[in-house]
Amino acid sequence: MARRKYVVGNWKMNGLAASIDEARAIFDGARAYGAIDVALCPPFTLVAAMATATPEGAVGGQDCHSAASGAYTGSVSAPMLADAGAALVIVGHSERREGFGESDADVRAKAEAALAAGLAVILCVGEPRGVRESGGAIDYVLAQVAGSLPAEFDPARLAIAYEPIWAIGTGLVPTVGDVAAMHGAIRAQLDAQVGADAAAAMRLLYGGSVNGDNAAELLGAGDVDGALVGGASLTAEKFLPIVAAAA
Ligand code: G3P
Repeated sequence: MARRKYVVGNWKMNGLAASIDEARAIFDGARAYGAIDVALCPPFTLVAAMATATPEGAVGGQDCHSAASGAYTGSVSAPMLADAGAALVIVGHSERREGFGESDADVRAKAEAALAAGLAVILCVGEPRGVRESGGAIDYVLAQVAGSLPAEFDPARLAIAYEPIWAIGTGLVPTVGDVAAMHGAIRAQLDAQVGADAAAAMRLLYGGSVNGDNAAELLGAGDVDGALVGGASLTAEKFLPIVAAAA
């Protein structure tokens, strides 16, 4: 089954109102590459303004609460994101799993809340350096997939992003062979967990130090359907070469 390439920028805690101009430049530039989906996930504060200023369905949040509303000071729910114009949300990023103690069950609850609110989901998984070095990366990531995946979902609306933690923001990347092996293992597990048709429809993204120089090689690895990009997604100059490599 043909899966459209998907390149998503995660701005993390970067961006002020003036950055909307950069988002516009990114989407203007990306228009040259028709058959590819491009999205940006800015901080909550910019979601509404960016969604207004850019193509429909291309802006997302970086996290959401699993409850729709309530006494959760400082949190933002999936219906709030949708109300602000978001079309997608990242859940389970390692900076949330590690920094905020989110378990697989938490991530799964967030993914379910997001889907119920009509958002598409990018569900992140990835191993720490010690696990990679001890040879346990695939088992570790497959356990995250098993524990974080909602019970039921539309496979076109849920992508998995494999982001080895040791590759995030470090300039280090796995070998193409390791990326292909991990993505192949994830696809095989999805096949067993949700069935062959759903597994074949789901997009698997790679994330971790993707840039204009390494994107073509990483995106060319088996079972890689796109990229989740951090630092190199903040400017059109750095992000568009990655979009071009995916096209
Ligand atoms: O979610 C994207 C991410 O964690 C990768 O960040 O800066 O290594 O591209 P970066």
